[in-house]
Amino acid sequence: MKELINNVTINNRSSDFIVEKLQKFLDKQVANLSVLFTKLHHHHWYVKGEKFFTLHELFEKYYDEINEYYDEFAERLLTIGGNPTSNLKGYLEITSLGEVNETLSAKEMVKMIHDDFMLIINELKQGIVIAQDVNDEVSADLFISTSAALEKHAWMLRFYLD
Ligand SMILES: [Fe+2]
Repeated sequence: MKELINNVTINNRSSDFIVEKLQKFLDKQVANLSVLFTKLHHHHWYVKGEKFFTLHELFEKYYDEINEYYDEFAERLLTIGGNPTSNLKGYLEITSLGEVNETLSAKEMVKMIHDDFMLIINELKQGIVIAQDVNDEVSADLFISTSAALEKHAWMLRFYLD
């Protein structure tokens, strides 16, 4: 059995397959967060209209936060013996998110970020189960706290869009 390194609890029932599944899951989230970080910059730079000042600042606040998760997820993956993807080509191969390839209105940008947050939240819920399967409560906790923060943002964006 492959052992998770450092302080991660070993679950006797865990198999290499499940540990690799968790590592793969974390790597996908690193890719998702990297793509989202870039998209938020796009929106920060290109948003126009009467809500410019509000949204320009909001997107900046989000990309700063996403940047922290990006680093945290990658370092968690290293901690449990995995190797995070660290180049843009690699991210685009494994991310669940699409890139921005069109001109969007301010409202469309907000909707896109809302939908990306929801997609990541839904994946994180699956990740909680995958982490708990190998008794990796630290990774599960990371997924729970990240999805809690993103759920709150998604709720606010829904109210904005109403
Ligand atoms: Fe800026």
